[in-house]
Amino acid sequence: VTLDQAMAAAAALVERELDRWLPRADTVEGRLHEAMRYAALGPGKRLRPLLVVESARLFGVVPEQAAPAAAAIELVHAYSLVHDDLPCMDDDDLRRGRPTVHRAFDEATAVLAGDALLTLAFEVMADPSAASDAAVRCELVAGLARAAGARGMVAGQAIDLAAETTAIDLPETRRLQALKTGALIGFSCEAGAILGRADRPARKALAGYASDLGLAFQIVDDVLDVEGDEATVGKKLRKDQSAGKATFVDHLGLHGAKREARQLADSAAGRLASFGERADVLRKLAAFVVSRRA
Ligand code: IPE
Ligand code: IPE
Ligand code: MG
Ligand code: MG
Ligand code: MG
Repeated sequence: VTLDQAMAAAAALVERELDRWLPRADTVEGRLHEAMRYAALGPGKRLRPLLVVESARLFGVVPEQAAPAAAAIELVHAYSLVHDDLPCMDDDDLRRGRPTVHRAFDEATAVLAGDALLTLAFEVMADPSAASDAAVRCELVAGLARAAGARGMVAGQAIDLAAETTAIDLPETRRLQALKTGALIGFSCEAGAILGRADRPARKALAGYASDLGLAFQIVDDVLDVEGDEATVGKKLRKDQSAGKATFVDHLGLHGAKREARQLADSAAGRLASFGERADVLRKLAAFVVSRRA
């Protein structure tokens, strides 16, 4: 399979699953429900669901079995974007080529939609369809909580905002990126390993892949902010520097940041050696992460 085919299949799978879980928007609180659907079903790359599906596949888990876990993680991702775009955070008007949720609806609805997407994620992950074994479900729920919370993504967002006013050095910038973007990408791969009851060495190899990939992914996000095409990326660009964001581009320059991303992607692919050809899509994904234009 090509990467395009794998991405399209994972996207279709997770979009069906998201549609199944998202409220129907046909009641008094319909506006909230509509905002949730708008945020979660917009045209995203579905990178994290693809990571769940492909990591699970390494251990013989079929995509359908990984769908609820993939949807739960995508719901957390969707919430994080809604809140990240709020005026009190990055203050963005454009996301995935469309007005951000607080623009299309209103600020209070965007806050509530984010709250509800995050909460729904845990409902989905705790559902028996996510994993028939209760111990596996518990491990998934606890892992998602750790990755999303105050020692994971939210910590990264807090450092990201703090760094706007107090400059941070390269190692701290690396830590910031590892938390705000790496934690959820890392857990996407870990979820596949949990579903597949992977052994320790396999988990370790996959965690190494995810950590390199996550960092490369955020470096490229920062590079795209500087030299990407707004219409292709679907968000307002050239904002990080004026906002005082701590980025790899800031520390290493454009050229250095791109080199770092390429090295990380190569290193990521190299960590998959023990999985043989079953890991081909994950390998191709590492190359895509640095060549992507959106
Ligand atoms: C954007 O994530 C936010 C970051 C963590 C850099 P994606 O680039 O995966 O966004 P979508 O889901 O494709 O819109
Ligand atoms: C956001 O990072 C990471 C999240 C946890 C949402 P950015 O602020 O760089 O993401 P974009 O550029 O707005 O997508
Ligand atoms: Mg941000
Ligand atoms: Mg942002
Ligand atoms: Mg960005």
